[in-house]
Amino acid sequence: MTRTIVVHSHRGGTGKSSVLANLALLIAAGGRRVGVVDTDIHSPTLDLLFRLEPGFSLADYLLGRCEIEAAAQQAGAPGLYVVPARTGTAALRELMSTGYDVGLLPEGFDRLSRHLALDVLLLDTHAGLNNESVTAMASADVLMILARADRIDLCGVEETLALAGRLPCRRALVMSMAPAGVDRDEVGRRAEAAYDAPLAGILPYAPEMAALYGERIFAEAHPDHPLVGEFLTIISALDARDEVSRA
Ligand SMILES: Nc1ncnc2c1ncn2[C@@H]1O[C@H](COP(=O)(O)OP(=O)(O)OP(=O)(O)O)[C@@H](O)[C@H]1O
Ligand SMILES: [Mg+2]
Repeated sequence: MTRTIVVHSHRGGTGKSSVLANLALLIAAGGRRVGVVDTDIHSPTLDLLFRLEPGFSLADYLLGRCEIEAAAQQAGAPGLYVVPARTGTAALRELMSTGYDVGLLPEGFDRLSRHLALDVLLLDTHAGLNNESVTAMASADVLMILARADRIDLCGVEETLALAGRLPCRRALVMSMAPAGVDRDEVGRRAEAAYDAPLAGILPYAPEMAALYGERIFAEAHPDHPLVGEFLTIISALDARDEVSRA
């Protein structure tokens, strides 16, 4: 049975795609079969982060040009398969002008999970609420919400929770890009109060991440960095079913 984990944030640039890529690599390195779908057709990232070859994408699948599994490329680690969102702006223009059947997304997630016998499916999303992110959330077993420890990110909570609170999934909250010296207990209290969900992890701001220029995935480049330890803590929290609350 595949476990579907959706990574979402209210605001952009919180680190969703970077965190997801690292979790995917680390989960696959632990021997599980992992699928990743970049549902962010507006500003995709994972094709670059995983250095995918040109080929079919989620957009091609949504436009009826291929089955979803034809868009999956093995990348990063054995047992890790990535479906990029789109490979150029032409597909996005076409999707915007012709539209697509949003029901193809959950059908595609199910088909990919079966076809590749996935243990875990990780879905990357565009920030905020839109067709793709909401549809991905509706497929989630666990909704992982990323937020920076500032009032503006935390204020996005009501909008996300107004929707996520009705979904039959569990929630895991991750604080992202925490500045050095941050009072972890204070951050935890503020975040848990705002999101009404237990904190699955606090990720420190790591200048080494910026210094990679998106050329490599952090856990590959800095396997011994404390940030990787935090990624592993989050994976344990996601696995330990009691540590995230039912929404
Ligand atoms: N813990 C961190 N420390 C320092 N930089 C980080 C950290 N996490 C992510 N970044 C950097 O922040 C930038 C944004 O990250 P990323 O693209 O993963 O965010 P995102 O939430 O997916 O953005 P978008 O909403 O545009 O999809 C990237 O340059 C990334 O390298
Ligand atoms: Mg992203």
